Amino acid sequence: MAEQKLSTILSLHFLILSLYASSFAIAGRVVVPLLQSYEIPTFKSIFNVTVYDTSKYGILQLNNGLAQTPPMGWNSWNFFACNINETVIKETADALISTGLADLGYVYINIDDCWSSAKRNSEGQLVPDPKTFPSGIKSLADYVHRKGLKLGIYSDAGIFTCEVRPGSLFHEVDDANLFASWGVDYLKYDNCYNLGIEPKKRYPPMRDALNASGYTIFYSLCDWGVDDPALWAPKVGNSWRTTEDINDTWASMTTIADLNDKWAAYAGPGGWNDPDMLEVGNGGMSYQEYRAHFSIWALMKAPLLIGCDVRNMTAETFEILSNKEVIAVNQDPLGVQGRKVQVAGTDGCFQVWSGPLTGHQLVVALWNRCSKAATITAAWEVIGLESGTSVSVRDLWQHKEVAGDAASSFSSKVDPHDCHLYIFSPQAAYRSEI
Ligand SMILES: *[C@@H]1O[C@H](CO)[C@@H](O)[C@H](O)[C@H]1NC(C)=O
Ligand SMILES: *[C@@H]1O[C@H](CO)[C@@H](O)[C@H](O)[C@H]1NC(C)=O
Ligand SMILES: *[C@@H]1O[C@H](CO)[C@@H](O)[C@H](O)[C@H]1NC(C)=O
Ligand SMILES: *[C@@H]1O[C@H](CO)[C@@H](O)[C@H](O)[C@H]1NC(C)=O
Ligand SMILES: *[C@@H]1O[C@H](CO)[C@@H](O)[C@H](O)[C@H]1NC(C)=O
Repeated sequence: MAEQKLSTILSLHFLILSLYASSFAIAGRVVVPLLQSYEIPTFKSIFNVTVYDTSKYGILQLNNGLAQTPPMGWNSWNFFACNINETVIKETADALISTGLADLGYVYINIDDCWSSAKRNSEGQLVPDPKTFPSGIKSLADYVHRKGLKLGIYSDAGIFTCEVRPGSLFHEVDDANLFASWGVDYLKYDNCYNLGIEPKKRYPPMRDALNASGYTIFYSLCDWGVDDPALWAPKVGNSWRTTEDINDTWASMTTIADLNDKWAAYAGPGGWNDPDMLEVGNGGMSYQEYRAHFSIWALMKAPLLIGCDVRNMTAETFEILSNKEVIAVNQDPLGVQGRKVQVAGTDGCFQVWSGPLTGHQLVVALWNRCSKAATITAAWEVIGLESGTSVSVRDLWQHKEVAGDAASSFSSKVDPHDCHLYIFSPQAAYRSEI
């Protein structure tokens, strides 16, 4: 497109403070051709840039204009698996509106596997299952669009989906055009029955087909982390799964959080690491564990895709999913993935996770993965703050300020498996330098 300035040159300024000498050093003026007008974050004087390595931030880009912040919405799989139909999808859309969750940003209604008939029709097209989706997908897309929501669908970069419906491998152009003609806004693209062809070969054809359809569609790669997609998928999709499927257990959630953490430096506006959808509200974890799950997913800039039955949530589930302050961490426009910065205690289960936010703030999580309550401490050098920086600390679950002028560390007693989440705001003396 002519108006797209594909050769836009942005100059990126890196200002790195030498914290030892307390003096500024200009590390370099780097000129890189980028396809999109965002800048690599400059943490300037506040943060130790080694802690928050963003050297890979935005180096590869799909550039379809989507995913400037992680996607938010709902997906049918974690609660309903194959037991879906158009009634459930419509009622979920209604519930997202009536509960207020849509207004908080949960706008994608994503249908997972099992929407399609077992066979393509005589023209080789995918067909919605006439028993469960008798009105068709276009009608469903129109329904959710009328409510200001977006519709997602599912297919597979293989010859079948995981539930053995037709896959899109070698049918990319037909299927992308069909999805576009229905008004689909999001495609989750799975990895079953892949004939042993490497993901790097199977995922780009659907990118190109979606792009050629002319309809802007969020492209969510689900190759379960095979071949380390963070290294190549940012120019293929808007998000890429980094792990196998989550399940509704503490063991699964913690394992996945750790695996996803490895790729933090690669996330950024336009493309996100995806540690899989939320299990909050499905019953397999405690309130504290779900709060930890939601806190860490938000801090990691993960897609926030609700996986429970939103037509029937408990008050606790709703409280977690509707926490505006935690959602704001996830949707912060800086788009730098927070990361695990310290482990202590037996098996490293006293953990500090943190990440930079706009406004020179930090999000800090104190996460107790042990089975006894413990005091966990975030020391300034660990979270990348210069020693002596005075910060105010706001607790995002208690919704109040808990310290006005912490100066070298901050500690809190955390219940077993719980996670406290805070915003640290450096005080005026530092702000004035910026
Ligand atoms: C910055 O953080 C890195 C990694 O944690 C650490 O090795 C280094 O000593 C820190 N630098 C300063 C100046 O604190
Ligand atoms: C649609 O699916 C839901 C959830 O599995 C089920 O409770 C309901 O009976 C189904 N409705 C129809 C009409 O099949
Ligand atoms: C197709 O890709 C080009 C180049 O990245 C991008 O500018 C355009 O917005 C894309 N179009 C669609 C429909 O995704
Ligand atoms: C859930 O995930 C954990 C950790 O990855 C795994 O050990 C366990 O087998 C999974 N459970 C089920 C029921 O799939
Ligand atoms: C609503 O959820 C509760 C558990 O929280 C469950 O016992 C009940 O059967 C559900 N109701 C419906 C209509 O699904």
